[in-house]
Parts: sequence; structure tokens; C-alpha cells
Amino acid sequence: MSIIRPEITSWIEESVLPCYDAFDKGHRRDHAQYVIDTALQLSGHYQVDREMIAVAAACHDLGLSVCRESHHLESGKIIRGLAELRRWFTQEQIETIAQAAEDHRASAKDEPRTIYGKIIAEADRQIIPDVVIRRTIQFGLRNYPGLDKEGHWERMVGHLEEKYADGGYLRLWIPESANAAKLEELRRTIRDKQALRAVFETVYKEEAYKDLLPKAKALSEGEDDLIAGMANLSALIHRSFGFWWTGFYRVSGKELILGPFQGPLACTRIPYGKGVCGTAWARRETIVVPDVGQFPGHIACSSESRSEIVVPLWKENEIIAVLDIDSKDRGTFDATDRIWLEQAIAYLTI
Ligand code: SME
Repeated sequence: MSIIRPEITSWIEESVLPCYDAFDKGHRRDHAQYVIDTALQLSGHYQVDREMIAVAAACHDLGLSVCRESHHLESGKIIRGLAELRRWFTQEQIETIAQAAEDHRASAKDEPRTIYGKIIAEADRQIIPDVVIRRTIQFGLRNYPGLDKEGHWERMVGHLEEKYADGGYLRLWIPESANAAKLEELRRTIRDKQALRAVFETVYKEEAYKDLLPKAKALSEGEDDLIAGMANLSALIHRSFGFWWTGFYRVSGKELILGPFQGPLACTRIPYGKGVCGTAWARRETIVVPDVGQFPGHIACSSESRSEIVVPLWKENEIIAVLDIDSKDRGTFDATDRIWLEQAIAYLTI
């Protein structure tokens, strides 16, 4: 394996990598260093000039200093203008390095022009199955706000199959890369719909709550009537997750009275200390019930309900209502729901 001239290594470390300190979190110096290391490692499979690979990898994102959207093209321009490179490389080599940077954003349609571009593009891409699934869900929540949970599931499965499954349009430029093994791992999960659904459930829950919180905040900022706030918030939560029943019971004397809700008809009054709702009120804490059949005194407004969460709504030191959510499945709720729902409903009384 050829040695990289020390002056090139020092130039990369002293003049190129510091530029990355100004970029966004995903493109800092550690990213550039990762691409350099990975590209050099991949280059071992091919007859290529390692110094050109190191420089192309080091400079591939420099264009971020100009414009994010076309940063790959800007990187190419910057590389062509770097005087130092003329000391070490021919004009033709500099052109190849610039093209490799330009081509690093290769999509399935535009194949990098040279092996240099392929190596940089592959080194820049990290297929991590969980991250691919999470980003797909995040993309859906951001770009298709009208979809409900099942809609997001279908969109996610569609996208994963189209791009990553066997026969999908994703192409790996360097079959020897670690991405090939990771892609196989992702394909196994895509094929096993039960496993995929389990990952979806966990990730969707976190991402949908992250997406829901600013919406809950905006709703209560725009309206100070508590009933109106409860009505919209129950609709927002209900629709985001496709629960069976989502609604509020308001404290009135020694009982809870049905408030705004989404779902089938429900009992209208629950005494203090009774059922899950009255118990949460009396204990002054959120109650998660993984299996309603196991909760003594559970009030079955609907025989379809299998698990439940009840979150008190505080105004100063007093509970003024509870949010009650029912699911048709066992074990739907956990600490993630508790944490996010407590925050979401707090906006109603701030
Ligand atoms: N299950 C609740 C009663 C309300 S309904 O589920 C809508 C409880 O035990 O308090």
C-alpha cells in the first residue's frame, strides 16, 4: 500500500479539516475523518491513487461553506482552485479529484463518473438499518402531515421496499463496503413484516410525540378556552396514534365528568377513586395499565379496550381533569407515552 506524503497529510489536517468545524452537526470534522478512513480502506480493493482518494475524501464537503443544496458542485469548484494541489498532482488528477467530490451525492440514476467518485460516494454513505427506518418515519411525519399512523406505516413500507428491498433502486457502488452487509440486515427486517412492525411501533411512537409536542403548544397558544383546547388536543393525539378512545374527564366536586373526546360513546361520570381515571386522580399520578383485565375496579366503558393510560391535568397544585386513552391492544402504553403526554397536556393550563 503506497504511503501518503506527509506534507499532504499535514495539509489535510491543518488546512482542510478545520473548515468542517463550522458546518452542521452531521458534517463536522469527525464526518470528514470517517469518510477519509473509509475511502482509504475501500481503495484497497482497487488500483487507485491513495493520495487522490485522501484529498477527495477530505475535500468532498467543503462546498457546504457556500451552499448546502449544491455543495457537491461547490466542492468541485473549490478543489479546482486549490493552489496547493498543483504541487502534488497533475491537472488531470486534480480534475478527477474534483469530479469525485462532485459525484459524491450520486443517486441511483447518476453513477459516479470514475472509481474515485464511487469510493467517495460509498464512504460517505452509512447504511444503519435503524437509522434508515427512523429517517423514513421522520420524513413521512414532516412531509405527509395528513397521514394517520397506518398511513405512515404503509408509506414507510412502500419506501423501504422501493429503495432497499431485493430489486430496490438503491445501488451500492462498492460491493466490498460494510454497507453491503448492513443492507442485507435491513433487507431481512423488511422481509419480516412482524419484526419491521415492532421496530416501527417503537420508533413511530418517539417520532410522532416529537412531532406532536410543538403542535400541542401551538394549539393552546392560539386558544385559551380550556374545553376548546381539550377538544383539539384529544383529536390531535387520537389521530396521530390511531388509539381506540382519547379524551378528557373534568373534575367536578367529588366526581369526574366526561369532557371532549374522540372515539365511541363513553361513561359520563366516574367517582373519585374509582376506575383507572378516578384512581389516577386520587393517587395524583399518571397510571399506565398494560392489561385492563388486571386492574381491579377498571371501568369498562367499551369491551374493546385492552390497555389504558390516564394522565392528570394540573392547574397549580390541583388536578382539574384527566386525559384518558384506551387502546385495543395490550401493552400499548409505557414510560415514553407518560413522559410525552404529561408535557403535551401541561400546555393546556400554562
Ligand atoms: N376505563 C376508564 C373509564 C373511562 S373509559 O375507558 C373512556 C376507567 O377505568 O376509569
